[in-house]
Amino acid sequence: MKQSIWLVLGLVLSACGGGGTSVQDDSTSNDVMVLPANFPAPRLPADNALSAEKVELGRFLFYDKRLSGNGTQSCASCHHQDKAFTDGLARSIGSTEALHPRNAQSLANVVYNITFTWANPSLLSLESQMQVPLFGEEPIEMGINESNMAEVLARIGADARYTTLFQAAFPALESPITFGNITRAIASFQRTLISGNSRFDQALQGKTQLSAAEKRGQNLFFGEKAECFHCHVGFNFNDQVVHASTRVLDTPFHNTGLYNIAGTGNFPEGNQGLFEFTAQARDRGLFRAQSLRNVELTAPYMHDGSISSLEEVLEFYAAGGRVISSGPNAGDGRMHPNKSDLVTLINLSRQEQSDIVAFLKTLTDHEFVSNSAFSNPF
Ligand code: HEC
Ligand code: HEC
Repeated sequence: MKQSIWLVLGLVLSACGGGGTSVQDDSTSNDVMVLPANFPAPRLPADNALSAEKVELGRFLFYDKRLSGNGTQSCASCHHQDKAFTDGLARSIGSTEALHPRNAQSLANVVYNITFTWANPSLLSLESQMQVPLFGEEPIEMGINESNMAEVLARIGADARYTTLFQAAFPALESPITFGNITRAIASFQRTLISGNSRFDQALQGKTQLSAAEKRGQNLFFGEKAECFHCHVGFNFNDQVVHASTRVLDTPFHNTGLYNIAGTGNFPEGNQGLFEFTAQARDRGLFRAQSLRNVELTAPYMHDGSISSLEEVLEFYAAGGRVISSGPNAGDGRMHPNKSDLVTLINLSRQEQSDIVAFLKTLTDHEFVSNSAFSNPF
């Protein structure tokens, strides 16, 4: 394990703006974002300064179903706090019942992402990512469009609570209720969704001890036999991370051998990964390595939710990919030409697989999934 990853920076960002905070929740102080000691300071956008008021407004909007075309769905409909902001479905279902091709991602520590979603290299901020669920048509998620846009804003504007919240968050503006400001506020709320108080973190700080099985799993995870740590690396257990002092932005995507339909290298329709953006054959089936924080709570797994348990994820990695023997997706993922060299047949015994699962479960942050600052304010 690379100790340098765990550099203790101990930075706590405090509220910018301060003053006139009428909408503070019950948490301790004026701090907008409280970082664990082993987390680096995040890089925050210059054009959307973080403030306690924006975060509070964003929290209401995140949980508000009026923010969808037909009033049935909010961000939280697919991002449930108790599941580390995933939805428990293999693939999400939008406000008009459209089936999303992909699995809802956790929002823990999204402030550190370089690119957003499973395989889109061009979504580079929370603000730009949010245009997809709000306005996207393929698939429809929240279903806001030209014809209902004004109505959605009117619904928000009709709630007196929002008059106060928007004024506090955007005090310089006369008519602050716009989609631009809605996006800025929800992005601000998401930036505060920090998860770093798992048993694993507590053990790093010497506050608790991992069990023998968890320690064996940890050694396997960070060792050259299982190779997990190459892609699930660093304080956030993923390999696309940006923070305040990052110099080079590295955005790797990987093919882990999930599919190889009829030996053609194809993945199921709508889920070809990075290839959909680059049209390069070598990018077929490449996805972003998901952070493994809270992974115990985010089943089912992978970009399309096609693996239902952590035990099966370990079987999948131990086999060096997945063989699907019948049906429309039949094929030998182990033989995919783009598969990463780090995913190969590994001789992991049942015991070793269950030790790694035990280690992964130490990444669950119970405080994060019950923190009242992140919960439904209505
Ligand atoms: C219909 C369900 C649904 C709704 C509603 C929804 N999301 Fe998502 N969210 C998803 C899915 C599915 C993905 C993965 C998308 C992909 O890979 O294409 C995702 C991905 C994300 C990501 C990327 C996380 C990462 O690690 O890169 C963010 C951020 C996000 N959603 C925020 C939001 C916000 C904010 C809202 C409300 C404005 C919202 N979502 C509404 C289902 C939903
Ligand atoms: C070559 C890089 C790479 C290596 C090595 C690797 N992973 Fe992954 N991992 C990924 C990628 C990429 C995904 C997402 C794949 C997809 O959805 O198509 C993923 C997904 C996962 C998921 C599902 C996460 C979720 O939220 O759905 C788990 C759990 C996981 N990996 C655990 C492990 C373990 C344990 C090991 C070691 C045995 C390991 N990984 C090795 C790249 C890697």
